[in-house]
Amino acid sequence: MGNAVASKLFDLAGKKIFVAGDRGMVGGAITRALAARGITAMVASRAELDLERQEQVEAWFSAHRPQVVFLAAAHVGGIHANNIFPRDFLYKNLMIEANVIDAAHRAGVEKLLFLGSSCIYPKFADQPIREEALLEGALEPTNEWYAIAKIAGIKLAQSYRRQFNADFISLMPTNLYGRGDNYHPEHSHVIAALMRRFHEAKLVQAQEVVVWGTGTPRREFLFVEDLAEAALHVIEHYSDALHLNCGTGEDISIGELAALVAQVVGYKGKLAFDTTKPDGTPRKLLDVSRLHALGWRAKTPLREGLSAAYADFLAGGGRNR
Ligand SMILES: NC(=O)c1ccc[n+]([C@@H]2O[C@H](COP(=O)([O-])OP(=O)(O)OC[C@H]3O[C@@H](n4cnc5c(N)ncnc54)[C@H](OP(=O)(O)O)[C@@H]3O)[C@@H](O)[C@H]2O)c1
Repeated sequence: MGNAVASKLFDLAGKKIFVAGDRGMVGGAITRALAARGITAMVASRAELDLERQEQVEAWFSAHRPQVVFLAAAHVGGIHANNIFPRDFLYKNLMIEANVIDAAHRAGVEKLLFLGSSCIYPKFADQPIREEALLEGALEPTNEWYAIAKIAGIKLAQSYRRQFNADFISLMPTNLYGRGDNYHPEHSHVIAALMRRFHEAKLVQAQEVVVWGTGTPRREFLFVEDLAEAALHVIEHYSDALHLNCGTGEDISIGELAALVAQVVGYKGKLAFDTTKPDGTPRKLLDVSRLHALGWRAKTPLREGLSAAYADFLAGGGRNR
């Protein structure tokens, strides 16, 4: 696909912009990307505005009247949490999406971006995964609660477009990492988990760190500041019903990733793979040709992004430290 930038359909400059979930990894990065353009986003802490409560959301929208909404608030977590708290992943995400999208429509919001995740796709989707793969097969059962809520969010945004001509769009990022990541020992994603474990192993000079599985599955990782740029780009250059994938277009094996994280952290011991642990799907990579055709490309090389993430970790950034 070409690199030509699609023409601008919408200008963020001068707009009142609400970033829902600004204290999270994604919302924080979007708020910083807006600040880099001289735009101060409107934000609200959960204590001020619980997005699960419809009356609070409607009152907030009618009082503050944002013109643009980035919906980066969600109830997120790993496989383990999905298994134990299925109601939370389904109900909380449905409520947040329904409340924010409907209140945005009622308040006359001009543009809204709904953020989902690549887990919306069928477990056995063809690789790289195209946007059209949505609903073509069964989901990964371990996180179907979350995935179904996110699919409902995409459909909800589409339904307001179809019924009211609302300019609501959706972006589905691949695995993210970077500033503000979650380092919880059980609930973190792979990069945050590896970073914490190698860091701790370095401190105690451990001889060996054991990584689950064979190390051969391939995954894609996007630096969260790049995702934030993509979010701003699609708000300004895209207006259609179809959700868009967002990733680097490149994957790496878990073994190579683990070696790279160990290097960045400065862990000098051995890496061992516990092949008795499950590997998961062999490959998961998004097809990002639509976003490339709109003129956006991820720009941060993995090593550089990992170094920035580790600097943030050392500075005490992130959650569950
Ligand atoms: N992280 C990834 O690898 C990844 C990958 C693909 C897609 N995404 C998507 O990006 C979005 C954001 O994820 P994230 O990683 O940034 O998650 P996160 O760090 O956990 O942030 C989520 C944010 O939502 C807020 N929130 C949750 N429930 C709320 C409620 N009832 N009322 C008000 N605020 C509420 C949280 O508030 P508190 O600060 O009060 O908890 C937090 O600020 C999600 O849609 C997720 O699917 C993430």
